[in-house]
Amino acid sequence: MIPLFKPLIEEEELNGTHEALKSGWLGIGSYMGEGSYVYHFEKNINNVINAPERHVGAVSTGYAALHLGLLIAGVSGGDEVITASLNNIADFQAILATGAMPVFCDIDEETLCIDLDKASGLVTQRTKAIIVMDYACHLCDHEQVADFSKQYNLRVIHDAAHSFGARYQGQMVGSFSDITMFSFDAAKALTCIDGGALVLNSQAELDTLHELRLMGKTSGRGSYDIQRLGYRYHLANPHAAIGLAQLTKLPHIIESRIAACRYYNDQLSNLPPIITPKTRFDDVNPFMYYIRVPTEQRDALQVYLKQRGIETGVHWKPGHHFTLFKTSRRDDMSVTERLGKEILSLPLHSLMSHRLQDEVINGIIDFFQKEVC
Ligand SMILES: Cc1ncc(COP(=O)(O)O)c(C=O)c1O
Repeated sequence: MIPLFKPLIEEEELNGTHEALKSGWLGIGSYMGEGSYVYHFEKNINNVINAPERHVGAVSTGYAALHLGLLIAGVSGGDEVITASLNNIADFQAILATGAMPVFCDIDEETLCIDLDKASGLVTQRTKAIIVMDYACHLCDHEQVADFSKQYNLRVIHDAAHSFGARYQGQMVGSFSDITMFSFDAAKALTCIDGGALVLNSQAELDTLHELRLMGKTSGRGSYDIQRLGYRYHLANPHAAIGLAQLTKLPHIIESRIAACRYYNDQLSNLPPIITPKTRFDDVNPFMYYIRVPTEQRDALQVYLKQRGIETGVHWKPGHHFTLFKTSRRDDMSVTERLGKEILSLPLHSLMSHRLQDEVINGIIDFFQKEVC
């Protein structure tokens, strides 16, 4: 089977975990202070995003980062948060966890990121924040995001689960948005097995994060207090050790994933009726590579490829299709409806060989030749 995602776990990660386990510093409380793997991981993220003035806090998952990011942005019961309907369920559940409701917006046809022109029509007095998510190998129009948030006085949660290590107009992702979240789950370009991080504006926001991620415990040596509701969302040291090892290979990871996406595009873009992403993949760290397949053939292609040992995926079922969100507010969803039935994610790994990619490409070519015959 050629898996859809495959983590790049090598000697460095094994050694890092071994050392972290042997150190006995596994996870909680003072172990997260200076000198811990978690602390170093946070500092290294600061370096990667080239934003020493920003404040990075690591957490246990991308979902936890979203939940805490929304809370730090002041989102609470009765509020609304605008998000693309084509997004990970983690975003919808994180909104619900604050007591707010998601409001679903359509996407842009070229980038599959949120369509901010349509989002304008969704803003009400209850809107507190907007989640903007970089999709697969595309970045949102973050200049427009900044204007939009200013115009409507909204907090921005930049879901950069797919874009750690990418640049927007020369600036590293994580360095320019209001609040940025990263996911380092098992499928991501850079993994901690499970992990996440928030990039925040101030020490005060970071202090809040420290309390929220550790059951409300105020920081400080010796005695502590509990002054608010808290969660158990800290990142454990062995996970941070894996992340640290991965970070040493980030340039390699980015380079090889861009090369793989370009190879797919070169081989597939002249194969009607497929539509490939319209990008040269400059300055991104692609998490996923997707193609668009005519609706009536998409599922059959997926089954065909599976029979040939090739795993593919659909990212994702639109949020407004779920039972839980049947009554959630939304407007025109025409692009999401159409593209949601066309998108198919193909296997993409760091250091993926052309030989493996050719197996995927030939599978797709054979499917369409069979269809024509
Ligand atoms: C866009 C997006 N946001 C959030 C998440 C949630 O991250 P995690 O799996 O680390 O909780 C994911 C996970 O795949 C994602 O793709």
